[in-house]
Amino acid sequence: MRIDLPKLPLLLKPFFFSLFLSLFVLAFLSLQTPRRSLNKTTTPEKEKDEKLPSDLKIRPGYSSYDAYLQRQLNKTLNPKLREIWTTRDWNRKVNVFSKFFENLKQREYLFNGSKSLSIGARVGQEVAALKRVGVNDSVGIDLVPYPPLVLKGDFHNQPFGDEIFDFEFSNVFDHALYPWKFVGEIERTLKDGGICVLHVLLSKRADKYSANDLYSVKALEKLFKKSELIEVRSIDGFGLDTEVVFRKKKR
Ligand SMILES: C[S@@+](CC[C@H](N)C(=O)[O-])C[C@H]1O[C@@H](n2cnc3c(N)ncnc32)[C@H](O)[C@@H]1O
Repeated sequence: MRIDLPKLPLLLKPFFFSLFLSLFVLAFLSLQTPRRSLNKTTTPEKEKDEKLPSDLKIRPGYSSYDAYLQRQLNKTLNPKLREIWTTRDWNRKVNVFSKFFENLKQREYLFNGSKSLSIGARVGQEVAALKRVGVNDSVGIDLVPYPPLVLKGDFHNQPFGDEIFDFEFSNVFDHALYPWKFVGEIERTLKDGGICVLHVLLSKRADKYSANDLYSVKALEKLFKKSELIEVRSIDGFGLDTEVVFRKKKR
């Protein structure tokens, strides 16, 4: 672009030049600033408030859905941690999960023939445990896949059709940025009469990667609109203190 300023008085030249430069910089910056309305997965605060029971709080500080995902991935993709989870940690966790699943089988919420999904399964210790106790048709989902036990999938938008599973387990409810979507997806992919077991933390604030804080089981009951609450019991499960069992109602 040619800027022709020779006829202007000498003093005005730097003024017009800096004015032109400022306008150019401002135009450039406005193109770089992220616009919330363009991010389809960001939910307006108002919608969040309307959908949430009062005893469930979304943690502030996530500027966008991408920022939330990035925070989750920072830990899950850490190579040193993945090495530990798949070696030193493996047996200890599979053993503890196996006891929980054996117990659920005894209470007749889980059977060898149950088609089972584990949500937020990371490297799949809980899926390995399901298989160990005889529930062979089991798979997990996580943002990062770990084949063959764990497929890639966001629990806010499960990569499955409707009414696929007899049993769904998760100990990562606190990682849901949109808890009503987390629950809605479970109720969509569970068969009628299917069982959902959640391990949650009620007594204190969950870890720093959590996206929500849950203060009572009542909040879960409000979110599980198509299910009935069957059982609540205290547990000691990797820092989580309560096991909650829901059954999807038959139509
Ligand atoms: C505390 S870890 C629990 C892992 C596993 N259940 C266990 O007990 O070993 C939370 C997991 O949830 C996953 N996660 C977080 N947000 C997710 C999302 N939107 N969809 C699927 N997985 C997600 C993380 O990647 C991470 O692996």
